Amino acid sequence: MLRIDEPLETDRLLLRPFRTDDVDALHDLRTCEDVLRYLYWPPATIEQTRHVIAQRLSMNTLSGENDSLVLAVEERATGRMIGEVDLRWLSVEHRQGEVGAILHPRAQGRGFATETVSALLDLAFTRLGLNRVTAQTNARNAASIRALHRLGMRQEGHLRQCVHFAGTWHDELLFAILAEEWASRAPAGG
Ligand SMILES: CC(C)(COP(=O)(O)OP(=O)(O)OC[C@H]1O[C@@H](n2cnc3c(N)ncnc32)[C@H](O)[C@@H]1OP(=O)(O)O)[C@@H](O)C(=O)NCCC(=O)NCCS
Repeated sequence: MLRIDEPLETDRLLLRPFRTDDVDALHDLRTCEDVLRYLYWPPATIEQTRHVIAQRLSMNTLSGENDSLVLAVEERATGRMIGEVDLRWLSVEHRQGEVGAILHPRAQGRGFATETVSALLDLAFTRLGLNRVTAQTNARNAASIRALHRLGMRQEGHLRQCVHFAGTWHDELLFAILAEEWASRAPAGG
């Protein structure tokens, strides 16, 4: 069981539970072509975004298998909500999880994904006691692949044509990191 009520602080970011007033920033994210390119989601309507926010409000807790923790990412310097990160508890028995991150294009290329997912991996390994955390990304998503390598995650698989979206087959890459690898990693970006 893991519950986040207070924001997690990193050097430049806060990872915090969603609030109802995040609706405009989340809608901006979920309608941005650059963000959606590899996510297989059509642009959201405002009603859909409101529905997602309503779900997100209680997604600050991992109580059991298949629960997802989804936190808003806020830039401390500006107070702006710039994205979201998620941690899914894939298996309680086998201590497995999966991470993901989405940043608004104006917040990309500044190391924020590495910073925020690092905080989430810390949480996964030290507070939730997971042994292995995976991430999956479209095989063409170069920024995501670079970020996963930067985090010390290893590519374990190439899943050919595993997603059919918008009339096209997409390959995905599977990455993973073990608790022991995270504990002995070199600093991200180093
Ligand atoms: C995937 C995604 C989160 C990666 O974000 P990102 O900002 O590129 O990733 P990082 O935080 O690792 O940033 C690293 C980049 O910032 C640069 N950078 C600038 N200042 C930096 C700093 N202080 N510290 C570290 N890196 C810094 C690095 O040089 C690097 O640039 P490069 O990728 O051109 O080599 C982002 O592309 C995204 O949100 N995409 C849309 C949604 C999506 O596809 N999500 C993934 C689904 S699996």
